[in-house]
Amino acid sequence: MNLLIMGLPGAGKGTQAAKMVEQFNLIHISTGDMFRAAMANQTEMGKLAKSYIDAGNLVPDEVTNGIVKERLAQADIAENGFLLDGYPRTIEQAQALDKTLLELGLTLDGVINIEIDPSILVDRLSGRYMCRACGATYHKVFNPTKVENVCDTCGASEFYQREDDKPETVKNRLEVNIAQGEPIIAHYRELGLVSAIEGDQEIANVFADIEKAVDSIK
Ligand code: AP5
Ligand code: MG
Ligand code: ZN
Repeated sequence: MNLLIMGLPGAGKGTQAAKMVEQFNLIHISTGDMFRAAMANQTEMGKLAKSYIDAGNLVPDEVTNGIVKERLAQADIAENGFLLDGYPRTIEQAQALDKTLLELGLTLDGVINIEIDPSILVDRLSGRYMCRACGATYHKVFNPTKVENVCDTCGASEFYQREDDKPETVKNRLEVNIAQGEPIIAHYRELGLVSAIEGDQEIANVFADIEKAVDSIK
């Protein structure tokens, strides 16, 4: 099964993707995570991506399309299926993905679209913190670690905030993503692939709705 998860910054894509890959045995491909890994390793691509990401802008399509295509071509994808998170994010990326899937003989089975009012997303993003060791995502108020300062997933105790979660960057990220998102959803709606999920409910309830949607796709 091959799926996309879509939604504005802070909608809960990464949080739900972590649960989905475990439940449905899919391979998680997050372009944001790939860029952050490249930035941490200070690769050429990472240095290029940083200038866009830190300003809340999108990395150019040709760079993003290239890394996704390269990842989708690896053998584990055809064997297990993928969950793409944060891609496509422009209509050009959606067209590039259609072409790549065709070339690789893969089909897209469904699009999980987390719907949410943008006004609550600033609180979500400003309270987010991440595990330095494994990348697990938490929230100061809505989803803290079970034991203070200990990662639920890996037990490490060093956390950080994303550079692009600063209030001045968040505003631009939301504007950029709102402007780009609608034509992409329309593209997948035409193909009958979209399941709309209410994102403004507890994390477990969002996941329950996603499970129902995925079960109907299978
Ligand atoms: P990316 O990393 O994809 O960031 P994003 O789309 O802005 O989305 P986020 O990761 O911020 O939010 P999320 O939906 O995953 O929410 P989360 O689950 O963490 O991209 C970063 C940047 O990289 C982009 O701005 C761009 O520059 C570049 N980039 C990436 N892909 C690109 C592409 N395709 N093309 C070009 N550039 C690209 O949840 C957020 C917080 O809320 C957490 O603290 C969480 O604990 C909490 N939370 C989650 N669900 C709930 C809930 N139901 N109730 C309460 N709190 C919740
Ligand atoms: Mg994310
Ligand atoms: Zn961890």
